[in-house]
Amino acid sequence: MIGNPVNYNKKYVGNSPLWSNSSLDNNLKRYLMLLNGKNILDLGIGEGQNSIILSQLGYKVTGVDYSKKALDICKKNCSNIELVEKDIRDFDIPSNKYDLIMSRCVLHFLHKSDIYAIIKNIKNNIKANGLVYISVFSTNDPGLKFKHNSPDFDALENNVFHNISDNTYSSYFSKDEILDLFSGFNTVLISDEYSIDLSHGTPHYHGIIKYIGEKI
Ligand SMILES: C[S@@+](CC[C@H](N)C(=O)[O-])C[C@H]1O[C@@H](n2cnc3c(N)ncnc32)[C@H](O)[C@@H]1O
Repeated sequence: MIGNPVNYNKKYVGNSPLWSNSSLDNNLKRYLMLLNGKNILDLGIGEGQNSIILSQLGYKVTGVDYSKKALDICKKNCSNIELVEKDIRDFDIPSNKYDLIMSRCVLHFLHKSDIYAIIKNIKNNIKANGLVYISVFSTNDPGLKFKHNSPDFDALENNVFHNISDNTYSSYFSKDEILDLFSGFNTVLISDEYSIDLSHGTPHYHGIIKYIGEKI
């Protein structure tokens, strides 16, 4: 493992949701019908923005997160989710258990070598015909340009940045890179979007790649 996990504890304040949008992610809504079973793993579950709704719909969700605060908020709002307080880099995914493994807006907080190991873990252990859903910052994200110009970050190869003050890493991806990482999977969705994010804080832009793939 390279560097520290990002510390989200300071971002989750009290019991108020960090993200105002508590409806189910449109892409999940659209493709839930492809699931062959009810077992879902959410890597970096946060407050359970999507997993709580999935649990209420009858899915059996396991969520992993490093932030105790996030897990406490999630637990308070839904007691049916199995929660694991852990760095996702240390989580061994049980073999052939999950019909959907998702990780929304989490993996880009890591060094690419750790991300590759997690993706390998997902690919090896998800059930046959299981779905993977990930979203990560794209190379169009304004954060990349900012970090290139900031003395607080070291720019490493392959669009990886090191935050010198807290020894965390962040990574940015192209669409082709993601498709390559999920080679052997059937692509259900790949999108590369640049849009204003109104879900938290002041309006700001993000470049985000979303990928859904099926193990064949
Ligand atoms: C932007 S939030 C996304 C939460 C959730 N996936 C969603 O879509 O609403 C990122 C979450 O990932 C968690 N996280 C980041 N790095 C992690 C790591 N290495 N291990 C476990 N959790 C991590 C943070 O604590 C935070 O709750």
